[in-house]
Amino acid sequence: MASTSRTMRKRKDEKTGVKLNGSSTPPKVERPGSKFPKNTVVLSLVCAGVILLLVQRFELLTTRPHVEDEGKQSQKLTFAADVERRDAVVAAFKHAWLAYERDAMGDDEYHPISGKGTNLTKSGGIGYTVIDSIDTMQIMGLDEEYTRAREWVANKLSFDRDDSFNTFETTIRVLGGLLSAYHLSSGDSLYLERATELADRMLPVFDTPSGLPMPNVNLAKRQGVEDSNSPNVISTAEAATLQLEFRYLSHLTDNEEYWEKVEAVMKMIRAAKLPSALVPIYMGSKSGQFLLSEIRLGSRGDSYYEYLLKQYLQTNQTEPIYREMYEDAMGGISEHLVQKSLRRGLTYTAELVPQRGRTGQIGWHLVPKQDHLVCFLGGSLMLGATTTGTLGDGVSIPPAEDELSEIGDRDWKTGSEILDTCIDTYKGTATGLSPEIVHFRTADDDLGPIGSDWYIRGTGETEAPPYDARYILRPETVESLFIAFRLTGDDRYRQIGWDIFQSINEYCRVETGGFASILNVHDKNSKLEDRMETFMMSETLKYLYLLFSDASVLPLDEYVFNTEAHPLPIFTPNIRTGFS
Ligand SMILES: *[C@@H]1O[C@H](CO)[C@@H](O)[C@H](O)[C@H]1NC(C)=O
Ligand SMILES: *[C@@H]1O[C@H](CO)[C@@H](O)[C@H](O)[C@H]1NC(C)=O
Repeated sequence: MASTSRTMRKRKDEKTGVKLNGSSTPPKVERPGSKFPKNTVVLSLVCAGVILLLVQRFELLTTRPHVEDEGKQSQKLTFAADVERRDAVVAAFKHAWLAYERDAMGDDEYHPISGKGTNLTKSGGIGYTVIDSIDTMQIMGLDEEYTRAREWVANKLSFDRDDSFNTFETTIRVLGGLLSAYHLSSGDSLYLERATELADRMLPVFDTPSGLPMPNVNLAKRQGVEDSNSPNVISTAEAATLQLEFRYLSHLTDNEEYWEKVEAVMKMIRAAKLPSALVPIYMGSKSGQFLLSEIRLGSRGDSYYEYLLKQYLQTNQTEPIYREMYEDAMGGISEHLVQKSLRRGLTYTAELVPQRGRTGQIGWHLVPKQDHLVCFLGGSLMLGATTTGTLGDGVSIPPAEDELSEIGDRDWKTGSEILDTCIDTYKGTATGLSPEIVHFRTADDDLGPIGSDWYIRGTGETEAPPYDARYILRPETVESLFIAFRLTGDDRYRQIGWDIFQSINEYCRVETGGFASILNVHDKNSKLEDRMETFMMSETLKYLYLLFSDASVLPLDEYVFNTEAHPLPIFTPNIRTGFS
């Protein structure tokens, strides 16, 4: 347990013994990367033909998995820490952190090859990397590194920056990181004070006609800032991935305003609901309506779905509205997006792209493209199955078929299969690392004989590897491996995580310190990109550490991980119990 002499201010929900020093839990992140759609036409009753899947209601139940009988000793063994591998992950974290600290301490981002740091804006850093990494140090028990990072927060951190910062990214990385650090330090008031200050600076982003947030915020001026290219537009994932953080802050401070602002966003999204319960990736913050845009589980869509489940779990399953929205959404995904590949029947999710026909009507076109980001869905569906899809009180590890409802069983299988597909996209490359985007072959794609199920688009077309071929240290697959391991005890998931970790060490490690992205996963001598995303230290290495830790570290029935892998404790709310 990382602990130094700090003020201990116990909050009502703080557990006396936070379990650390082993490893634990998962989250997801959407990384906006794509352009705004050109024609953002308000989508009214567009998704015709897409049918709402009526989901039956199930008994609420607690989620603690239990090992059923004494005879399953071997199963318990798989839950012991794999100390050697866990320690190797800690060593990798130190390799990354110590280089950053040496070269760029306090800068927002790190470039390990040139050994330089940069800030997001000219106005100065906001602790993007430091704060994103703190809870990993706490969990790993890196006391010395932790103490120095805390000193930085206490003495150097400033949010008085007169420039615009992304609302979503600042929330999931900085606010989420501060809140986790607060919890894991058993209530070090420094973190709660900084978190409250940051949230107060951000609150004006919700001052729009609909209450949907503006995509950016000027932290010094305390003003929401629209995207100048697409004013009054917010991506769905960015609007719906602030809730865990603001709600937990509300719970800690007894200030209802944070809660109300983010709950109003969920109300608005629910009111704009389309028949399929699937959501286009953009909304209008004036109209509060969805804009005609893609429907997908990748960038700008992903963490909306992730947070539906986690919002339900965060407040100890006391807000059935999120369960309903989650079940509706998973029904829509299952019906419309889940596909099987041609050769080996790998399960993946496609995207729906709107096309306007000659007479003006909208048709939806299925594109067999899956982002690495989608790999969160494997673990998320498995977690959803064992919490919203059970028949009785809890499930075994792994769940027995007769413990799951029909829908729970569907989601469990789909989740494990999607994870298997993601694993396949690692195993199927020269480096053992997965590309940023894969496309799946379809019967009518005009690409010749079907040799493999998936491919990286653009390979061989130019000398430079295509954008899709890169691996930028993304966490989604190891996150799902961690959840799958906790829910099944199947050692195979640890082995795969270890293989991935070794590939990262072999191909992404920078000798002088840090890890970099590689530009081509098919090339063992791939060029590196001089960049270590902050999620390497906050997510990828944390999830790997948790995968090899024993199951008492950050148990999944006591924590939700925000989409940047910051663990937040599940609590029973005394402020609100959702809307209906
Ligand atoms: C980033 O911002 C901090 C705080 O203003 C400053 O000390 C540091 O020099 C900046 N780093 C770079 C690379 O400009
Ligand atoms: C969640 O709810 C259950 C059942 O009502 C209760 O026993 C448990 O203590 C609650 N957990 C938390 C963390 O509040």
